[in-house]
Amino acid sequence: MSDQRSCLAIVLAAGEGTRMRSARPKVLHAIAGRSLLAHTLDAVRKAAATSTAVVVGPGAEEVTVEARRVMPEAEIFVQSQRHGSAHAVLAARSAIARGVDDVLVVFGDTPLVRPQTLRRMRDALANGAALVVLGFRARDPSGYGRILQEGGDIVAIREELDASPQERRIDLCNGGLMAFAGASALAILDRIGNDNRKGEFYLTDAVASVRAMGKSAVVIETEEDEVRGVNTRAQLAETEAVLQQRLRRAAMDAGVTMVAPETVYLCADTSFGRDVVVEPFVVFGPGVTIEDNAVIRSFSHLDRARVGKGASVGPFARLRPGARLEADVHIGNFVEIKEALIETGAKANHLSYIGDATVGAGTNVGAGTITCNYDGAAKHRTQIGQNAFIGSNSALVAPVKVGDGAYIGAGSVITGDVPPDALAVARGRQVVKEGWARRLPARKAARKKS
Ligand code: UD1
Ligand code: CA
Repeated sequence: MSDQRSCLAIVLAAGEGTRMRSARPKVLHAIAGRSLLAHTLDAVRKAAATSTAVVVGPGAEEVTVEARRVMPEAEIFVQSQRHGSAHAVLAARSAIARGVDDVLVVFGDTPLVRPQTLRRMRDALANGAALVVLGFRARDPSGYGRILQEGGDIVAIREELDASPQERRIDLCNGGLMAFAGASALAILDRIGNDNRKGEFYLTDAVASVRAMGKSAVVIETEEDEVRGVNTRAQLAETEAVLQQRLRRAAMDAGVTMVAPETVYLCADTSFGRDVVVEPFVVFGPGVTIEDNAVIRSFSHLDRARVGKGASVGPFARLRPGARLEADVHIGNFVEIKEALIETGAKANHLSYIGDATVGAGTNVGAGTITCNYDGAAKHRTQIGQNAFIGSNSALVAPVKVGDGAYIGAGSVITGDVPPDALAVARGRQVVKEGWARRLPARKAARKKS
């Protein structure tokens, strides 16, 4: 139903966020690897909004930059003074005035709202409501506005302070998010006054406007978790926990085995194939893709990396940005990979740093191998061919190439290219002095006398 209707989403991102005790605007704090604002914009996009207005506070340059990064087509409006949430919505007056079927009002600090919930709100508009309020049954309703109903309609939203003892027992609370029928949105909003203790224009008063206009206001109920707002760092952490649970659940539903899901940290964009196994205590940063049948073992940390089919990573591995592992690669403990392509079946099983490199298919990288990619000024590449063998504790001083099938003797410091099928050994030759240790005490005694 909602797909045939046009929809303007207004995202309020003007919150001052002083309780975060942060130099950063509140909506730019992140959960699951992306800003609160980006989560909200993503929900709006998935709810099929046809246009989006982001309302920012004055001088909120960083918020504007983030909004444009996430949704370049969004229009930015500035609420130059904080006169309440209805006032903030009206900062986008010109966008509303252009005329749309649905106007959704969402909050940049309420990132867990689901697209399907926003769609249910839009469906209620399509069914004739002039105003839709998103409500929830609160475990502890204190502090929230209570929703008073008569028949199917909302009569009022009563703020805690103004509620009678009976009204305070109502557990259906206002989540804050609302949807307006586009044709009457401006008329509803313009009726809202600021005749209250704080002298602010409250969005909640839209209910009274709608009633006075003889139109209908309804409530759509959802879970409390979805309308969690972030005002403090503690709430940021609680919101993160709820989102992590959702992401883990979605990954498992899509065919990922998680041995101890509560110990795995995901990003909103973490992508898994089927039959992936994730052992306990793994952290996925942004931009990670894991293909079918790969195994990510305990205590690994992955960030902007790709893991191919059937590959094995960890335990204790670190994949940094630009790590690309093809199928059946093995990356073992205490191995760090950065900006490197590891081709099919190659192995680096112990204690290595592979950065700015290519490791050819079937190559074995021995324990303790280091690509010396940085000369103090610039980064250089190491290219290792297929089926090569890099002996343990080798240093490959880039730029350098090791040909297909070449061998590097253990402990080598390789500073020049190695041709295919060659052996390169670059280390001090071993010297053996027979009987040297047996003669040592006599030499020491002689030294004392002299
Ligand atoms: C609001 C509701 C309350 C509801 C609760 C749910 C009112 C009067 N009360 O209270 O019924 O239970 O949400 O969390 O609305 N904003 C601006 N500019 C402003 C003022 C607010 O952009 O000038 C934005 C805020 O950044 C926030 C949103 O509007 O995203 C809601 O305002 P807030 O002050 O947080 O309302 P609550 O006191 O939480
Ligand atoms: Ca709030």
